[in-house]
Amino acid sequence: VTDYAPYEAVSWDGGVLRLLDQTLLPQRVEYCDISTLDQAIEAITSMRVRGAPAIGVAAAYALAIIARDGDATATKRAATALAEARPTAVNLRWAVDRVLQRAEADSAPDAALGEAKCIHEEQREADRQMAQFGASLVVPESTLLTHCNTGPLATAGGHGTALGVVIEAHRQGLVAGVLVDETRPRLQGARLTTWELHQHGVPHRLIADSSAAGLMAQGRVDAVFTGADRIAANGDTANKVGTYALAVIAAHHEVAFHIVAPLSTIDPATPDGDAIPIEQRDPSELLAIDGHALAAEGTEALNPAFDVTPAPLIASIVTERGVLRPPFAASIAEALAAPALAGGG
Ligand code: MRU
Repeated sequence: VTDYAPYEAVSWDGGVLRLLDQTLLPQRVEYCDISTLDQAIEAITSMRVRGAPAIGVAAAYALAIIARDGDATATKRAATALAEARPTAVNLRWAVDRVLQRAEADSAPDAALGEAKCIHEEQREADRQMAQFGASLVVPESTLLTHCNTGPLATAGGHGTALGVVIEAHRQGLVAGVLVDETRPRLQGARLTTWELHQHGVPHRLIADSSAAGLMAQGRVDAVFTGADRIAANGDTANKVGTYALAVIAAHHEVAFHIVAPLSTIDPATPDGDAIPIEQRDPSELLAIDGHALAAEGTEALNPAFDVTPAPLIASIVTERGVLRPPFAASIAEALAAPALAGGG
């Protein structure tokens, strides 16, 4: 249990990697223990653990479990398999690379585990900072709109990214209400964000993704906060599919559109949005819900899990080092060059 959320998406408990199984929420709060590479990869691909930073933290611990055996070839192979489990969220590759490098540089049995714990601790600190910086953008009596799930479940850091800002702004008395996109097809908004806002006592209403434009036209949305799965060097941002549509309609209605993400989500090696790989998921996610068919038998579906919001549609990118403003190529480069946070590795 953290200082903030009464549940933990990812924890290391007496030598065991424990995940809150997000596929069972909101009906059941159950944890699953991970002790093998196959279990870790299954948990990431099936989205028992999900959200860019949270899968990075989980994969870091999973790789530390493999590295404990001291077999360098097996560790390298595991790192590749984990990094490829979900291609868009760059935190996954970033965290796995860090643990692999540490394991290769230091043969002590717990060196890799130390690195995984460090990544987790840095995420906690980043979550705290993002919540504070982001809340400074919220004006009193705001109705905030959010997409997907970006709370403590999505970061394993205690606060979350965009939802961490929303919850902190609520704690500061600034929030009149939150509109929660249900987020088709996996319904992270309906299943996870409503559950988290309920846990934190934040007033909210669920909306169909497609109702956001009409609500903005009626002046019922003051700002949009979403997370990110990968931010390119120029500020183009990949996030859960539907985010781009929100950014376009927010621009049309002059509603501020903010991204909240730790620096580990920024990939300076990705120059722009065109270079971000978009994960294509199984069509069955669209064609059925909980085993119940939604479309005529034989229907084909296209299921990109993310889309890219071009930087010009983004008002600010909230990071643990402050609020970045356009032009993002410059503000991102400056933030990445700044010294690490105290307590960071
Ligand atoms: O497919 P998911 O549920 O892992 O996608 C999650 C998102 O798109 C979040 O908005 C993103 O990871 C950033 S928030 C921590």
